[in-house]
Amino acid sequence: MRGRLIAAAGVAAALAASVALAAQSPPSQAPAQPQAPPPLDPVAILKDACAMCHGVDFIAEHRKDRDDWDFTVRRMIDKGADLNPDEAAALIDYLAKTYPKPAAASAGGAHGVQ
Ligand code: HEC
Repeated sequence: MRGRLIAAAGVAAALAASVALAAQSPPSQAPAQPQAPPPLDPVAILKDACAMCHGVDFIAEHRKDRDDWDFTVRRMIDKGADLNPDEAAALIDYLAKTYPKPAAASAGGAHGVQ
């Protein structure tokens, strides 16, 4: 009875020692989490890259189809909007969905005076 107890204690001690050893020499670790690109927030991009020259309200007054937004955003990049290609794509997508050209606008005059 007593012998078994001591043996069990010995096993426990050996186990603890090997755990401690393992903890002391960690295997060479790769960085814990893979670097996922941060999600692009088009509203933040709009405020950062576009609102420095004219308000977001001004942009929101415009209604365009995707090609036109694409064209406009590229034009604004030429003027100095600071966007990388991923941000530009996310922003064009957002603008095309949020401020689309009205589908059934009567030809001409839909948007008042230019
Ligand atoms: C460096 C200043 C500057 C930045 C940055 C800028 N714009 Fe402009 N934007 C202008 C100026 C100046 C005009 C008016 C002259 C013109 O249309 O060329 C204009 C006009 C516009 C117009 C109306 C004319 C059109 O083509 O529909 C829209 C819409 C517009 N900008 C959207 C944007 C968006 C979206 C961004 C961000 C990607 C942006 N702008 C960033 C200077 C800027």
